[in-house]
Amino acid sequence: MQKNNLKKLLFISLAGMSISLAFAQEKPWNHIGRKATPAEVKAWDIDVRGDFKGLPKGKGSVAQGEQIWEAKCASCHGTFGELNEVFPPLVGGTTPEDIKTGIVAANAQGGVAQKTTMMKLAKLSTMWDYINRAMPWTAPKSLQADEVYAVVAYILNLSAVIPSDFTLSDENIREVQAKLPNRNGLVRFDGLWNTNGKPDVQNTACMKDCKVEDISSTLPDFARNAHGNLLEQNRVIGGVRGADTTKPAPAEPVASSLTKPAMKSTVATPSTVAPVSPVSPVKEMKPAADASAAVDVKPMLAKNSCTACHGMKNKVVGPGFNEIAAKYKSKSDAEAYLAGKIKAGSSGVWGAIPMPPQAQMKDADIKAIAAWLVAGAK
Ligand code: HEC
Ligand code: HEC
Repeated sequence: MQKNNLKKLLFISLAGMSISLAFAQEKPWNHIGRKATPAEVKAWDIDVRGDFKGLPKGKGSVAQGEQIWEAKCASCHGTFGELNEVFPPLVGGTTPEDIKTGIVAANAQGGVAQKTTMMKLAKLSTMWDYINRAMPWTAPKSLQADEVYAVVAYILNLSAVIPSDFTLSDENIREVQAKLPNRNGLVRFDGLWNTNGKPDVQNTACMKDCKVEDISSTLPDFARNAHGNLLEQNRVIGGVRGADTTKPAPAEPVASSLTKPAMKSTVATPSTVAPVSPVSPVKEMKPAADASAAVDVKPMLAKNSCTACHGMKNKVVGPGFNEIAAKYKSKSDAEAYLAGKIKAGSSGVWGAIPMPPQAQMKDADIKAIAAWLVAGAK
């Protein structure tokens, strides 16, 4: 959430910058860089697709692969691709029966400590491409095409997909693909947790007049603690904290509480409710439309990106709104002071980072926010 806010903030400021530059002068990026040369494009364009489009010609035997493996791969992945110290094992968990069916039975049945690469791999091109661009980890893209063929052959031999006298090449790779243990195991939904065959994101597309306040996201209960306690996995300092996922989720999702419809917080603390005068029946019926202290400011805070920098209860870039409320609780002209600061920006009160002026905002909105802060930022 807070990370997203930071991203949003960066995006907003970058977007702002480029818009103003674009209007101010000729597009500045016209003079930056140059066209890539065909040779450069060729060097980048190395992907190998599921149908083997992009696969370079070449060949490598299991025996050659074994030598390369020992020299360049075994230290991290184990002599037989079985090591799980650096990464889950590459090899293991597949059976001759799987090679016949094309579905690795252990994926569904369990019984293996960790899913290996060979258990998951549905397209041989994926492994070829990955090794070609990313391995060895310490020297990516250092292997020649023939060497990649060779190590792939070695891994396949360790998995009993091809015999030890086999030479893998661009010409026979399709035949080998047809023997891959999990070739029929591509799934549309990763079984991270049991969703009973349905996607765990269920939505009705809205392309027009969508109700923004209805959008929120929550982790389903069964997923909340699925990766251990997030609180313990985050640094205790800094803007990003993990939720304590061993405890049940808060009753209200954070995102939607920022965008609650206006009526809810018209039930304000007594000191903030505007006096209801008997001569003003309109006010009585619609307090939110008039009494600034009772207006729900939270949608405004979200709309004006205040929440990109301020948490309700914690510091993000700027102080938490509750901290601001507490600081000025007993200051006599607090509302006017805070309104002035919001409009003009602020620096040096809370730390080294300044707050930019909010000149785009309507005075009435600024006043409402200042009043809400003085009333305790609830
Ligand atoms: C210095 C350690 C190291 C060396 C050496 C190394 N690897 Fe890896 N390998 C890794 C790590 C770490 C990952 C996971 C990287 C990631 O997910 O970002 C990985 C991932 C892989 C994967 C993908 C597994 C998957 O399921 O996603 C393959 C295949 C692989 N390595 C093959 C090789 C081959 C072949 C070599 C030798 C040419 C090699 N590795 C050398 C550390 C190493
Ligand atoms: C780019 C980040 C950023 C945005 C956006 C932002 N603020 Fe701030 N805000 C800060 C920082 C940083 C401070 C602390 C400034 C200081 O030390 O004086 C601050 C301080 C404040 C203060 C306290 C000023 C004081 O004198 O103590 C208020 C009130 C405030 N912000 C309200 C808002 C409101 C309302 C919005 C949205 C309209 C908003 N801020 C948007 C970063 C931001």
